Amino acid sequence: MAVLRFPAEDRKIESEQEIRSTLAALGIDYERWSLDRVPPDSSADAVLAAYAAEIDAMKQRGGYVTADVIDVNPTTPNLEVMLARFDKEHTHDEDEVRFILAGRGIFFLNLEGRVASVEVGPGDMLRVPRGTTHWFTLCEDRRIRAIRWFQDTTGWTPHYTGSGVDVDYQPLCFGPQYLGARVHTTISIDRSA
Ligand SMILES: [Fe+2]
Repeated sequence: MAVLRFPAEDRKIESEQEIRSTLAALGIDYERWSLDRVPPDSSADAVLAAYAAEIDAMKQRGGYVTADVIDVNPTTPNLEVMLARFDKEHTHDEDEVRFILAGRGIFFLNLEGRVASVEVGPGDMLRVPRGTTHWFTLCEDRRIRAIRWFQDTTGWTPHYTGSGVDVDYQPLCFGPQYLGARVHTTISIDRSA
């Protein structure tokens, strides 16, 4: 389940419906998909076969021609170099479409100066249209497994904006289990009853 935040507005949204409608109004597709098709340790080929219907439907929706499974974990060679390619504000010439199978990461979307962060996790599908200024990083466990769709793999090259806006945002992942900082409450107990 995703967490949508607008850091400058101190606004956090955790309801699926509200995340979906808020992002839809900004041109971003968000959906929850079933994870029960394949065991978590299935091969990439097994994942692609199990989700063939969804993969084909998405290809039709966006004109994508290929799909693959990306699998990143702390032992992935050159992981920090790879992450550094995408954690600076950039655009692509094609949509960035991900269905998260495992792990968590944060997309920061700079929507005409209003920055939204979408922390995605297992079962989340996010579709960011081409040309959207954004950046991405993994949560602390440095783990993500996702189905990706491509219109043309050459379109995947990041075009950096060089704005530097990304350094103003902490890539803090909270996850659905995060209940927020404790607040002190005053509870009066009526002992007269
Ligand atoms: Fe990107």
